[in-house]
Amino acid sequence: MANDLKMENEQRSGIKRVPFSILNYWRMYKARGARLPFYYFFQAHAFDLIHKTDTHKWLPKEYIAHPFENFDNCGMYMASWDCEIKTIFHRTKDLVKNFSEYTFIDMGCGKGKVTILWALECLKIGLKQKIYGIDILPELIEIAKANHAKVLGNDGNFFCEDATKIVPHDYGDKFILYLYNPFDDFVIDKMLDRFSSDDTLIIYNNPVHASFIIKKGWTPIFEKNGFHPNLHTIIFARKS
Ligand SMILES: C[S@@+](CC[C@H](N)C(=O)[O-])C[C@H]1O[C@@H](n2cnc3c(N)ncnc32)[C@H](O)[C@@H]1O
Repeated sequence: MANDLKMENEQRSGIKRVPFSILNYWRMYKARGARLPFYYFFQAHAFDLIHKTDTHKWLPKEYIAHPFENFDNCGMYMASWDCEIKTIFHRTKDLVKNFSEYTFIDMGCGKGKVTILWALECLKIGLKQKIYGIDILPELIEIAKANHAKVLGNDGNFFCEDATKIVPHDYGDKFILYLYNPFDDFVIDKMLDRFSSDDTLIIYNNPVHASFIIKKGWTPIFEKNGFHPNLHTIIFARKS
């Protein structure tokens, strides 16, 4: 009976609950040694324990009940690591003149952790910036709003949108786009065609399709690396 109810809820919501246990830590250890579970705990799991949020549990694609357009071109949900978001926030602020005039958009924001941490970093230094998260999955947008409310006391600016259909001027005119390997070059291509302004910066964490972005006419202006792809980020600006 309880199981029937759970299945019904999952079917209605479109995403199934993903199990997470100590076994996941064991698998991380087996795959990459002690450093990965250590990082995962402090850079992903701890955020949820501290804030009572729901961000760290990933969502493999087979747990999504209703595929969407370009489903084959997108990756699964998982959250960026705290240390990477904070490091890149400060690096971007130093690189960009008039940082607060830029609109920050997490393209494929999932459960909203990047926008929350970005907003917290802005608050710490008394800076105001327009901060948005967009995602194609409505269920994740609802979770992102609830997470934002828990940490910052309001729902934040999250919208259910397909990155290939975004109208940039609805959001601002200078942009910092954050991508944590959300989709492949097919979707990146369609999305970037919409951002024609030279005042656009791309932060690309776990930059699997970096060479495609370079082919599209963007130049890396900063790169950092680490033992895991989640610690690899490139910031791109448009070639002028
Ligand atoms: C790897 S997660 C990144 C989550 C978040 N940005 C972070 O760093 O914590 C990628 C997200 O991109 C979303 N996504 C995939 N294709 C998309 C599309 N065409 N438009 C908008 N979001 C998309 C997925 O639903 C998923 O939540």
